[in-house]
Amino acid sequence: MHALVYHGPGKMAWESVPDPSIIDATDAIVRIDSSTICGTDLHILKGDTPEVEAGRVLGHEAVGTVVEVGAAVTSIAVGDRVLVSCVSACGRCRFCKEGHYGLCRGGGGWIFGYKIDGLQAEFARVPFADNSLYKVPAGLSDEQVLFVADILPTAYEVGVLNGRVEPGDTVAIVGAGPVGLAAIMTAKLHTPGRIVAIDLVDSRLEKALEFGADVVINNGDEDAVAKVLALTGGLGADVAIEAVGVPETFELCTELIRPGGRVANVGVHGKCVTLHLETLWIRDVTITTGIVDTRTTPMLLELIGDGRLDPTVFATHHFPLAETIAAYDVFAAAAETHALKVVLQAVPVGTEHEDHRDAPLALAAPVHS
Ligand SMILES: NC(=O)c1ccc[n+]([C@@H]2O[C@H](COP(=O)([O-])OP(=O)(O)OC[C@H]3O[C@@H](n4cnc5c(N)ncnc54)[C@H](O)[C@@H]3O)[C@@H](O)[C@H]2O)c1
Ligand SMILES: [Zn+2]
Ligand SMILES: [Zn+2]
Repeated sequence: MHALVYHGPGKMAWESVPDPSIIDATDAIVRIDSSTICGTDLHILKGDTPEVEAGRVLGHEAVGTVVEVGAAVTSIAVGDRVLVSCVSACGRCRFCKEGHYGLCRGGGGWIFGYKIDGLQAEFARVPFADNSLYKVPAGLSDEQVLFVADILPTAYEVGVLNGRVEPGDTVAIVGAGPVGLAAIMTAKLHTPGRIVAIDLVDSRLEKALEFGADVVINNGDEDAVAKVLALTGGLGADVAIEAVGVPETFELCTELIRPGGRVANVGVHGKCVTLHLETLWIRDVTITTGIVDTRTTPMLLELIGDGRLDPTVFATHHFPLAETIAAYDVFAAAAETHALKVVLQAVPVGTEHEDHRDAPLALAAPVHS
């Protein structure tokens, strides 16, 4: 098969690699129908995560079709259309039993495109298939569910739920990339009073308004703390969601929060960040961090099926899977291309709006017999 292979910082290639095969009886093999690229993949390419070995197939978000299952897999069958989530679950460890799959100590957690070969590929091996795959509800397209593989549960669980967004709250979301926009989308499920989006890029702030932000602040031009205080009668925001991952934005969140407020950090930080306890200690502020557990994935899929959420608005660009390298270029140059999420499709571009789910896919010869 072909896959996007990481060859060390700054180096990757779409190349021929061995077909994945069942290793453990709990594995499934999935033919990838749609995949996408995450900001985290760009971090890996920059060399920010040196634990990723050269030769690793990247990608941790996909929708596909099961082509083979191991002997111990009981709830997933060949032919099932499935969402392959960024987080896998062994189902047996203490953290999995608590629903904290992101912390799995039994071989799950975030493993695709990180510890094991990932999903920007024609086929992938999925460990713990019963616990880690989600059947795609009938009638939903790949593009309707693809972003539930990562950004939607990430923004909802680590941002909105950790931040305990309540009806009427003023919610400040710092960073209006795909994760910050997904935080706007899912915060609205809790009927906040006001959503304030803060970013340095005007085109991202325009997107934030389209996604339902009530107020936008370009913190390159304006004093975001002063503006949030003015909006809230001098108190500050009830909840601040950090969706960037740099020291300045975490500090900004701790400055624009009201006494007793909540700061939910979602960003992945690569540098030391200052925590100003000398000003925060007396303000009863709650600060949370986390990796996504994906425990809300079934609920999010139901909301999409019911028409309450429409994540297709994230899909700004489409590429055939074989042109994943070109898709990385467009995704990495988001400031110029205005890309949010790029969809990598195993079917030829141009036919993406046809219903190809019930017809045989135009793929190369079957890999698994
Ligand atoms: N905790 C988790 O489980 C988890 C999962 C997925 C992603 N993440 C992290 O979430 C973060 C956001 O992801 P994304 O894909 O949306 O990233 P992104 O890079 O696409 O978007 C970040 C946004 O922040 C803005 N920005 C940058 N510096 C800023 C500043 N100083 N002030 C205000 N805005 C600023 C950028 O203009 C951009 O719009 C990343 O750090 C990512 O690694 C965390
Ligand atoms: Zn990701
Ligand atoms: Zn586990």
